[in-house]
Amino acid sequence: MATRRLSSTLEMTSTKQPASRRGSERRPERRGSNYSTSGFSSRRPSIDPSRLIPMDKTTHVGGTDDFNVVFIGAGNIMFGSDEGPWNHSFRFEHKLGLRLKVVALIDPAIERATAVLQKKCDSFVVSAYQATRVFKTLEDFVKNMSAKDRPRAIVVGSPPMFRGTLQSGRDIEMQILKHFPGVAIFLEKPIATGPKTELYEAFHISKAISDSKAICSVGYMLRYLKAVQKMKQIIEENELVVMATIARYACAYESIAKPDWWDKSKSAGPVIEQGTHFCDLSRYFGGEVDIASVTAHSLDWDENAGHLSRMRVDESKIAPENRIPRVTAASWKYDSGAVGSFTHTATLQGHNYSCELEIHADGYSLKLINPYVQPILYVRKPGDDHEQMYTFPDDDPFFSEVSNWIDVIEDIEEDPEAAQILSSYEDACRTYELTWAIREASERSRAARLAARETTVFEEEEAEAEA
Ligand SMILES: NC(=O)c1ccc[n+]([C@@H]2O[C@H](COP(=O)([O-])OP(=O)(O)OC[C@H]3O[C@@H](n4cnc5c(N)ncnc54)[C@H](O)[C@@H]3O)[C@@H](O)[C@H]2O)c1
Repeated sequence: MATRRLSSTLEMTSTKQPASRRGSERRPERRGSNYSTSGFSSRRPSIDPSRLIPMDKTTHVGGTDDFNVVFIGAGNIMFGSDEGPWNHSFRFEHKLGLRLKVVALIDPAIERATAVLQKKCDSFVVSAYQATRVFKTLEDFVKNMSAKDRPRAIVVGSPPMFRGTLQSGRDIEMQILKHFPGVAIFLEKPIATGPKTELYEAFHISKAISDSKAICSVGYMLRYLKAVQKMKQIIEENELVVMATIARYACAYESIAKPDWWDKSKSAGPVIEQGTHFCDLSRYFGGEVDIASVTAHSLDWDENAGHLSRMRVDESKIAPENRIPRVTAASWKYDSGAVGSFTHTATLQGHNYSCELEIHADGYSLKLINPYVQPILYVRKPGDDHEQMYTFPDDDPFFSEVSNWIDVIEDIEEDPEAAQILSSYEDACRTYELTWAIREASERSRAARLAARETTVFEEEEAEAEA
């Protein structure tokens, strides 16, 4: 067990077990979901916002021992792109410094993987990558692995269509558990994008991960925003009961040029692939959702109001039934009785998204604006009709999620409360379940609308024929 000090700014004397391990001890039975695995608690872990320290201000964990990591996927999330601030390798380099040793990079696109590695080797972080080997599959790595290459942590950033099931080629989690039992796993969101019929497989994986005791974190990085943790703090300190969550996610569709994103058969649609972040945040505050209560409507590509003038993909190449909605608006009940609502729109042009989340409780409203670009929090409290504004300069939730996961893996015993994993695999399964429920509810209401329209046309034709 490591006894390193995280940061001189963090003063704690508690000797309790790290929260990620304590979590399993407080799991009352729950209802709402169609899947029951471990009796998931609606209580969510949180972090004191003052402990979320930006990358350039953090005190590095000392030591000289290598920290072996395997990266699965050599794409944008792992190595960055101009689409956004994500870039896991960059955060790992800062967190672990010279200790980072990426022992393998696994990606069937060998050329892409080799190219990103070459760039790293040409830079000042060469020590982490000079011995990295590229493999097409995890199996290939296992066959060629020497004892000194054994990973301490595995980061999965492959597309979700290749994960989250028990089926060969789409079962990377089960492969990891088989070959590296107990090794820590970080997985990107969403946990899968396959057909809804495969949802139970994700819950099966969740149980296998939990049984294995592997330290697992899922990349819902918005939970690690300082603004989000400030909201949690206000709720906890004032013992508030959340009454409503109102989430709106407006993406800039003009900047989305990946054809797969526009094709539900590939991406599972924008609520599951992208709106998932805000459905997850809604659950983080509202608790468990009564899945049977979810209702939704959509505005679709073939409706008058559904025309988009600046799409950068040729939608005619996508089968009509797989084209994505322009707007999806959903509402639901939480198990607590609170009401949640979520609207996703693919309506903005330009580059930046416009996303907002409101949390309402007796006397309070907490309004989070622009979490992706420059988070601002507006808080209204009892006794004052004016909102107080909080800003959070230099916050980096991508670093905080990596940093917390590594600290939990390292099991810093002097400061057990500091590191928290805010999104477990099971939690992420429930967000996935919610997003599927929204998609299905919107498709049901569209089907009912189309059926009603057909009936009306039929009746009008009948009436005309009779006249
Ligand atoms: N949290 C965020 O804000 C955020 C941002 C970007 C991406 N993501 C998530 O990260 C994941 C990857 O997205 P991306 O943008 O990096 O995609 P990408 O297409 O840029 O890269 C994916 C890489 O995975 C490789 N790959 C395909 N099949 C594989 C397999 N079976 N094993 C290993 N590698 C495989 C591809 O060849 C490609 O190099 C998605 O789940 C996405 O939602 C999250």
